[in-house]
Amino acid sequence: MSDYSVETQIFPVDPNQPDPQIIIRAAEVLRDQGLVAFPTETVYGLGANALDETAVSRIFAAKQRPFYDPLIVHIAHKTDIDFVAKDIPEIAFTLGENFWPGPLTLVLKRHERVAPNVSAGLGTVAVRMPNHSIPLDLIRAAGVPVAAPSANLFTRPSPTSAQHVLDDLGGHVDIILDGGPCPIGLESTVLDLTSDHPTILRPGGAPAEALKEIIPDLVLPEDKPMRDNATAKPSPGMMLKHYSPKARFLLFKGSSATAVDQIREIARELISQGYKIGLMVTDEDHLQFFGLRAEIERLGSQDDLPGIGQILFARMRSLDKKGVDFILMRSLPNEGLGLAIGDRLFKAAEQQVIDLDSMKDLSDISEIFS
Ligand code: TXA
Ligand code: MG
Repeated sequence: MSDYSVETQIFPVDPNQPDPQIIIRAAEVLRDQGLVAFPTETVYGLGANALDETAVSRIFAAKQRPFYDPLIVHIAHKTDIDFVAKDIPEIAFTLGENFWPGPLTLVLKRHERVAPNVSAGLGTVAVRMPNHSIPLDLIRAAGVPVAAPSANLFTRPSPTSAQHVLDDLGGHVDIILDGGPCPIGLESTVLDLTSDHPTILRPGGAPAEALKEIIPDLVLPEDKPMRDNATAKPSPGMMLKHYSPKARFLLFKGSSATAVDQIREIARELISQGYKIGLMVTDEDHLQFFGLRAEIERLGSQDDLPGIGQILFARMRSLDKKGVDFILMRSLPNEGLGLAIGDRLFKAAEQQVIDLDSMKDLSDISEIFS
């Protein structure tokens, strides 16, 4: 895979009133086989013309993303769904009416005009209409659907600010449109409509509860066995080592009132062994970590899951910048956006959850970090 090296330009853009001059310039870059990063309501995307195989291949090169992980195609009008997909089931239109523009991605049969490498050679294509003026204006100006994965390096947490994109992809993307922080902060829900039962491949910004109102027999990701890290999978977002910070991420689950005490003890033990520790804590737990020699990132109240979702990836990145060896965090409730948050934490922790309730003493955990 050849490198895609360019001089990156950053343009601030007001999401309430995107400057048409800047949008037109970025649209020209897209039509010219270049790469444009832009904010969406979920995370920043790294866009290329979805009809152009060369342009799309540059996304994979810039992100160092394996070619077998397919991309999402973004459209700017609901009616463009049949421009990029075919044999579309009725339910897709119903979902589009209810969730678009918004954080729901539908996996459908791919129309031949979409570049095959968008879908990693699969016969399907993932489609969504983002709820953000910048990509909507950009796609309309370019006049083509835009393939865009999250604008991070493969294996790094998704970017929720232009700075995150620059940190990962500076020198590998032509233009970054800086529209400020992303309002949701977690990627879209990916829903497969090509199997017998509509199946969530990746929980995300559109909560499963809301989808269930339209699809009562919706299959949730936890109903399916986790796939291993090989090729040929419906959603390679299910792969190991995804969304990970550089630090080792330790995710704890514990119902007992003493869970926070245990985490504090484990942190203390790691500190005494010379490790630099980062903690991501809710407001409710915050005071109990007072005095610990750790980098502490507050997430807000655990009753405000949308608020936590918005800053989760940014907090992981900021702990990485501080050079911590371990990040410790307690798992959160699984309802609403909690399903997506839990999924990202689980992947950051390389699919390992440490159950504090079944832990007898500290030595139980030592094998994890030895
Ligand atoms: O919110 C989002 O979805 C963001 C913004 C930029 O739209 N995009 C994003 O893209 O998160 P990416 O590439 O990081 O994640 C796309 C997910 C991956 O898990 C991929 O495997 C899955 O969608 N996917 C894409 N095409 C697919 C297909 N044809 N079949 C199954 N899964 C697909
Ligand atoms: Mg991604």
